[in-house]
This record gives sequence, structure tokens and C-alpha cells, in this order.
Amino acid sequence: MSPGSDKPVSSLYVHVPFCAQKCSYCAFYSEASSGELIERYTSALVRELELVAHDVKPATVFFGGGTPSILNLKQWRRVLETMQRLNLLGAAEWTIESNPATVSLDKAKLWRDFGVNRVSMGVQSLDENLLDRLGRVHSRDMVFKSYDVLRRAGFDNINLDLMFAIPGQTMTVWEQTLDEAIGLGSEHLSCYEVIYEEDTPLYEQLQAGQFSVDEDSACAMYEELLEAASSRGFQQYEIANFARHMSPQSGEVPDRACLHNINYWRGGSFHGLGPSATSYVRGIRAKNWSSTPLYCECLERGKRAIESQEELSPLQRAGEIAAFGLRMNVGWPFHQFQQTTGYDLAQEWSSEIDQLVEQDWGRLNAERFQLTAQGLRFADLAAQQFLR
Ligand SMILES: C[S@@+](CC[C@H](N)C(=O)[O-])C[C@H]1O[C@@H](n2cnc3c(N)ncnc32)[C@H](O)[C@@H]1O
Ligand code: SF4
Repeated sequence: MSPGSDKPVSSLYVHVPFCAQKCSYCAFYSEASSGELIERYTSALVRELELVAHDVKPATVFFGGGTPSILNLKQWRRVLETMQRLNLLGAAEWTIESNPATVSLDKAKLWRDFGVNRVSMGVQSLDENLLDRLGRVHSRDMVFKSYDVLRRAGFDNINLDLMFAIPGQTMTVWEQTLDEAIGLGSEHLSCYEVIYEEDTPLYEQLQAGQFSVDEDSACAMYEELLEAASSRGFQQYEIANFARHMSPQSGEVPDRACLHNINYWRGGSFHGLGPSATSYVRGIRAKNWSSTPLYCECLERGKRAIESQEELSPLQRAGEIAAFGLRMNVGWPFHQFQQTTGYDLAQEWSSEIDQLVEQDWGRLNAERFQLTAQGLRFADLAAQQFLR
């Protein structure tokens, strides 16, 4: 969407800032739940949906967190009925993130009844010791049970989140988790290397010297992931994302790729609701307060809960969009980048591109620039060079 367009925004994100318990590695804005605050949040979210609905015609919706599946049936019904009243149903792709400990058949059926068609489940590992180490609230058994519940409710598009290079994780354990997770038959896999986020217990343990980071082992686990995923029918389309069903009709990404995330990587507009959520609409980036009580207070007074707003210069924004899009295996087709940002990628970033090609992290042809397998492994570093 161009900055001057008055067309409604087609992408909606809703942040649910609660979890059953906080995992040891996680820096997302969320806290262990309290019944009363969740109730208050639900009312505030209803109000925020009312304030934003006139500017949204959703093609993709994503409820992320935190753990959206932690809302109870009554709270979910309230949110979904509000969306129905506000004409926010009917998205082509509607994802809800869930934790295996908070999925139930009733909830999953309710989601389906209102048009939710994709569930992303945080699994991380199928090894009990590692689940424990990560502070996960669920057992491996619960993963299998919840997956089955989702299938029984009729979900035919499921993502599983896994993590690798976890302290204490051996290659054998990673291979087993990959094998069992892929064996479940989900349509999508997201696999993240552990990031040591400041102010998390895992980061503190690293700082205290309780373990060290083994970069070689992380690389080997990433290689194993690429091999296991591709040999069992997944196509990698972004550094951490793999999906099924690639055919000549599929275009540049597999059929079950996450459309909502592709909109981010391709620099599309989106409204973000809920505490800590960001929006990018008509050239303005806005961020909600990262405090659930403050968020609720604002909306109880009938106001949006926006903490800050900024307008990036067109070149800054183009640099960001270049960086996001290069995370995708197909990189940036030049005509598409020009259409999205108004800039010529090959010309504006010619020295960065030359350098990446030289170190074998980038590949250039007449049509596009993309990262090589080696470049993708270090996509964050490579992408940084495009920021202005
Ligand atoms: C919002 S959570 C997903 C759903 C749900 N909250 C759960 O964890 O079960 C998003 C995903 O980000 C990944 N993640 C979170 N913190 C991470 C970190 N520090 N390093 C790597 N991956 C992380 C995990 O795989 C997690 O499932
Ligand atoms: S990984 Fe998921 S369940 Fe764990 S604290 Fe983060 S958002 Fe919550």
C-alpha cells in the first residue's frame, strides 16, 4: 500500500500477552496469566478492534503472543463475535498461535466455526529433559495429543515451531525431534536457532558460565534441518520457515507458506493490536505500550494505546524492506522491489551486493538478488548491510 492510499489494510496482527508460564529463553512481551487481567485485556481488545475495524479488510489475520490459546472459551467467543460484528471475518489465512498445554477440542472447533484455518503450535523439542530445561509447561505427550485434537477439529494447515542449538541438545536428540515432528505430517515447520535474549534466565545462565555456545554444532544442526526437511517433502522459503506442496503452479513459495509473514517480509502494511504490537500503515510505524495495564487503561478511556509513532524516510524504509525480503530464499526480484519501494535495489545497494557476491553470500542475475545457502545461514548479518 502506498503512503497516500486510503484503501483498507489487508493484514491484521493481534498480540495476546499471556502465557501459562514464562519459558527460560523468551523475550516476547508476555507474562504468566492472571484471570482478572486476561478478562480486562479481552474487553480492551474488543474496544481496540472497534476503533480500527473501519481501516481493515483482512486477507490475513494472525493472533500471536504470548499464547493466544490461553484465552478461555468465553473470552474467545467474545473476540470472535466482535470480529463478526465488525466484518473482520473471511480472511484467506487466519492463524492462531497455541501452546500444547492450552489447546482443547471445544476451543479448536470454535476457532474453525469462525473461519480460523491455520494453527501454529509451539513444540520446541520432543525431548522431556530439554522441555524441562527450557521451562516449557507441557510434556512431549501433550504435543501429540494437541496435534490430534487440532486435526480432529478440522485444521488442515498446522505449523510446528522447533528450536535447535539448545544448551544440552545433542545432534542425536535434534535428529530424533526432527524425525518425530516431521513424522506428525504438519504442513509447515518453523525452526529457530536459540537466541540468547537479554533479561532471560537462559541468558543469565550463559553469562554465569553454566554452558558455552557451540557455533560448529549449531551449524551442523542447521545443515541437518535443511537435509531432513527437504528429503521429507518440505521446501525452505525463508531462513527459518519450511512448507509443503511445491508445484509448477505454486509460484515463488510453496502452497502452504505463511501468507501473513510473507506480507511482512515483502514490506506490506499491517495493523497490530494488543500490548507491544507494532503497525505499519501509510508510511507510519506505530507501537503500542508494552504494558497490559497501561494498554487497558488507554482503551478504557476510548483511546488507542499507542506509545510511539515514527515516519521513516523512504530510503530508510526501503533498506528495511530489502533486509526483510532477503530472508526469503527467492530473495528480491528487482521489479517487485522497485514497485514496493520506488528504489532500484541493484543500483542503490550496488557495493553491498558486490561484496556479498564476492564472499559467496549473495547471488545476482538480471532478474533478482538473493542470498546463497551460506548467506541465508547468516541472513541477519547480511541483511544489516542494507539498513540506511
Ligand atoms: C510466541 S511463541 C509461539 C507459541 C507459544 N507461545 C508457545 O511457545 O508454545 C513463538 C516462537 O518463537 C520461538 N522463540 C521464542 N523465543 C526464542 C528465542 N529466544 N530463540 C529462538 N526462538 C525463540 C519459539 O519457537 C516459539 O514457539
Ligand atoms: S515461548 Fe511462547 S509460551 Fe514460552 S514464554 Fe514465549 S510466548 Fe510464552
